[in-house]
Amino acid sequence: MIEIKGKVAILTGAAEGWGYEIAKAYARAGMKIALMDVQGEKLQRLADEIKAMGGECLPIVVDLANSDATQAAAEEALAYYGTPRVLVHNAAVLKEVSMLDVTFDNWRREMNIIIQAAFILSKAVWPKMVEAKNGSIVYISSGSGIKGFVKETAYTPGKHGQEGLMKVLSMEGEPFNIAVNTITPGIAINTPMSASHYTPEQQARWVDPVLIAPAFLYLAGLDAKTTTGHRLDAWQLSEAIRVGQKV
Ligand SMILES: NC(=O)c1ccc[n+]([C@@H]2O[C@H](COP(=O)([O-])OP(=O)(O)OC[C@H]3O[C@@H](n4cnc5c(N)ncnc54)[C@H](O)[C@@H]3O)[C@@H](O)[C@H]2O)c1
Repeated sequence: MIEIKGKVAILTGAAEGWGYEIAKAYARAGMKIALMDVQGEKLQRLADEIKAMGGECLPIVVDLANSDATQAAAEEALAYYGTPRVLVHNAAVLKEVSMLDVTFDNWRREMNIIIQAAFILSKAVWPKMVEAKNGSIVYISSGSGIKGFVKETAYTPGKHGQEGLMKVLSMEGEPFNIAVNTITPGIAINTPMSASHYTPEQQARWVDPVLIAPAFLYLAGLDAKTTTGHRLDAWQLSEAIRVGQKV
């Protein structure tokens, strides 16, 4: 495992939900973080919190559905901090719309955030990681990455796409020691996305996403010699880290 203190993370969807907790975990670990999100005010509040903790971050307000804006955000992060140790693409939206009702524009927007941004951000960091001969890329997947759910006309294919991109890039990354993995929560989590989609039964047993943020410390220190090409479980990894188990 590679020491992560002082190293760089690029994290999307940081303003709230799971991404917010991942950002705080990276800040506590002493990483420098390029934080991306479409919600400017919330992102700035997070950046202020991190700075108040003595942390280092660069908030970048960006709509990751827009390819040019995503490319510009990646370039800004790379120009400011240089080669990242880890890229975590966490941002997503989930709109449950039937095939009869979904519009192409809405379908494309959701797909762009999930899979187009995964490609653009990975493509931007790839030559840097190749040159450094190490790096870790993580896409936040979902149960929807391996099975279908009714009305998830964009979310399910988007998450399947992330699983596919991970499989290809993990093979291409291996000679350059770049780890590429996906991760799922492994447990019901209390986030704004969950609040709008979970059943009352799921909401009764959801946990704070702070509990599944420690997994991302492991992911930030990964290289291809350790773990690559896997679909990981954040709850199991975080539990193992909490009890001091070797992961
Ligand atoms: N919540 C769950 O139960 C659950 C389950 C499985 C997987 N996931 C995945 O975990 C990740 C985080 O989910 P969450 O529950 O924290 O979601 P959330 O909706 O609570 O937070 C998502 C973040 O992404 C940002 N975002 C959305 N659209 C954006 C855009 N166009 N450009 C930039 N940023 C944008 C939002 O502003 C927000 O800060 C997602 O990839 C999601 O698919 C969540």
